[in-house]
Amino acid sequence: MSKEIKTIGVLTSGGDAPGMNAAIRSVVRTAISKGFRVMGIERGYNGLIHDEVREMNVRSVSEIIHRGGTVLYTARCLEFMQLEGQQKAAETCRKYGIDAVVSIGGDGSFRGARDLSKQGIPCIGLPGTIDNDIACSEYTIGYDTAMNTAVEMIDKLRDTTQSHDRCSVVEVMGRHAGYLAINVGIATGALITLIPEEPWDLQKDVIDRMMDTRGTGKKHFIILVAEGVGHVQELAATIQKITGIESRATVLGHVQRGGSPTLRDRVVASEMGYRAIELLEQGIFNRVIGMKGERLVDYDIDEALAMHKEIDELLPTIAKTISI
Ligand code: ADP
Ligand code: F6P
Repeated sequence: MSKEIKTIGVLTSGGDAPGMNAAIRSVVRTAISKGFRVMGIERGYNGLIHDEVREMNVRSVSEIIHRGGTVLYTARCLEFMQLEGQQKAAETCRKYGIDAVVSIGGDGSFRGARDLSKQGIPCIGLPGTIDNDIACSEYTIGYDTAMNTAVEMIDKLRDTTQSHDRCSVVEVMGRHAGYLAINVGIATGALITLIPEEPWDLQKDVIDRMMDTRGTGKKHFIILVAEGVGHVQELAATIQKITGIESRATVLGHVQRGGSPTLRDRVVASEMGYRAIELLEQGIFNRVIGMKGERLVDYDIDEALAMHKEIDELLPTIAKTISI
């Protein structure tokens, strides 16, 4: 597809993630520095359907690099999942002269970007989600901040768990993915981490391991559960009933999605935003940007959406070996 790009739209879509603001800032300032005009689209694809579009300048993104959330707001837009919604969105782009859109979000947002590109508006996707579940990228904007938030909270929880000789069953986010849980589990020394990708058995993987550990003199326990496994209240009650160890359930919830982004999230977001504009400048369209090792890569949107990502098997093994 060859098309001259003069005006670039930017939006955030799906669940928010710390670092999205740093990505918006990078997109806006890089684009303006290269002579493009930039339009901010509010509330994801909703903004294109309901005409929530505003021009951005270098000062529109001042004082946001350290802020969580997204100054462009985000939304899940069901209307955009229908062809009519996509046509309406493309019409709004034409109305404002938006020649291309940078969409910051997860897989759903990239499916949206692919559909918008089919309506003649080229798109670039940037991975923004705390779940790190984008197959084409080893890293997603927000992941580091969310993990650090969870660690900070579980460290606090450990204090009271230890004082009372209790078991804390803690749920962290990750409806379909255990990346966040497995890393947080290692970092907080959780005895057991349950993730949606791995089958588990109550007796063998939970009760027996707790009893073995109690045999070595340990009296308090942290059990980490990814949201996709769920049922933390029931699990805590079951553990208490079987073992007699007083147990409490804690759901960390949406607090993990907020807060000031870490250095890593600010830098990765800034790099990805910069690369998105470089691609558009070079006439390279409909790509998703990712990280491989410490380097930026990019893939065709269809290719990116067809990729699969596996949990690194070594991490659960390490966790089981050293959390005893
Ligand atoms: P994420 O981007 O975090 O995966 P969602 O799956 O909720 O979040 O997707 C965000 C938005 O992207 C949706 O609300 C919708 O507007 C758009 N979207 C998702 N899937 C599709 C699809 N198959 N076709 C068109 N748009 C989609
Ligand atoms: O951002 C990803 C995620 O945190 C998932 O882990 C979780 O299942 C989902 O978002 C919940 O988002 P919401 O409550 O906004 O629908």
